[in-house]
Amino acid sequence: MLSNLQQQPADALLALIKLHNDDPRSDKIDLGVGVYRTGQGDTPVFAAIKAAERKLVDEQDSKAYLGPEGDMAFVEALMPYIFGKSGPSLGGRIEGMQTPGGTGSLRLALGMVKRAGYTRVIVGKPSWPNHNQICADLGLAVSEFSHAAADGTPDMDALRAALAQAGEGDAILLHGCCHNPTGIDYSNAQWDEIAGLVADAKVLPIIDLAYQGLGLGMEEDAYGLRRVLAAVPEALISYSCDKNFGLYRDRVGALYALVADPADLKKVMSNGHSLARANWSQPPDHGAAAVRIVLDDAVLTAQWLDELDQMRDRMRQVRARLAAAGKTGGVDLTPVGVQNGLFSIIPFTPEQVMAMRTDHGIYFAGSGRINVAGLTMGNIDQFIAATAKVTGQTEPAA
Ligand code: LMR
Repeated sequence: MLSNLQQQPADALLALIKLHNDDPRSDKIDLGVGVYRTGQGDTPVFAAIKAAERKLVDEQDSKAYLGPEGDMAFVEALMPYIFGKSGPSLGGRIEGMQTPGGTGSLRLALGMVKRAGYTRVIVGKPSWPNHNQICADLGLAVSEFSHAAADGTPDMDALRAALAQAGEGDAILLHGCCHNPTGIDYSNAQWDEIAGLVADAKVLPIIDLAYQGLGLGMEEDAYGLRRVLAAVPEALISYSCDKNFGLYRDRVGALYALVADPADLKKVMSNGHSLARANWSQPPDHGAAAVRIVLDDAVLTAQWLDELDQMRDRMRQVRARLAAAGKTGGVDLTPVGVQNGLFSIIPFTPEQVMAMRTDHGIYFAGSGRINVAGLTMGNIDQFIAATAKVTGQTEPAA
């Protein structure tokens, strides 16, 4: 029977890790999977997390199971950062549970959507490829609208049109900040409008917040999510600590549900618990426990926020340097300067993506998505020169 299985392609994004590792060139550049890198090209463990881990080793006296909801003190400690310090549970209408990373949270959110009887999920295009993969695996139809207009701003007309023909029975998946893969985020004024549109359309918002603090700041990056939640009766929120606490492989995330009537919370979350039990039973503890220790300690919290500020500042510097390069060969790098988070899309053709890999040892997704944090002041000129060379001139030579 097993020989009946069809060969599946490797995940294109994750395959880049190996391709880059296997390249013997010493000046190769990895702009693939979304991990933050310092100006020296490293992805260190946050000092605040290291300190929390030491405390955890000293103080943890049991590794007995916690249950499918995981570490609820971790889940609650995050809430003021996500939902706001004043009334983070929106009057007892929000509850959460721990999940293995943002993907685990999305898997539960979409599983609950399916169980609740939704059949269609509206998703901007492009989106993080795993959004569509999870929907497909669950048998949820995906309806796409264009996320970004040609000028590199959000395509509000497409979003308005998608919501105008949507209704009850539809869910919409929105990136809270640092849009993956484009880096093109909605402005606050646009979020104000979106909140009203989502409420009027009576669709269920699922908000994926995987990069809080990597865009404009912890509070700023939560604006859209808070605006939408204030306008709607129900919502699901997928949260990841993998990037903003640097815990990637420890898989730290949470799922939150907002309900209209607090009396429904227990029932709604019991679906998250039973789906978790059937998928991974219980989430891994270590990373979430480290986050809880950071958030329970004012000194470690300040240290973590400071480390996050430094990451954001460095990515802003890289973006400014790329934007300053302006028209580079056949592409314009200027829009990268106003985009947010780890990613931007450079409009490379598929052939140019391959030429960047083979001729220049520069690895990034086939969509043209680059991880700006993979660029340093030591390799950015090499990237700009290779981009100019590979994309060539658009104007005929004089
Ligand atoms: C990315 O988009 O690179 C990250 O979210 C990592 C992943 O799991 O794909």
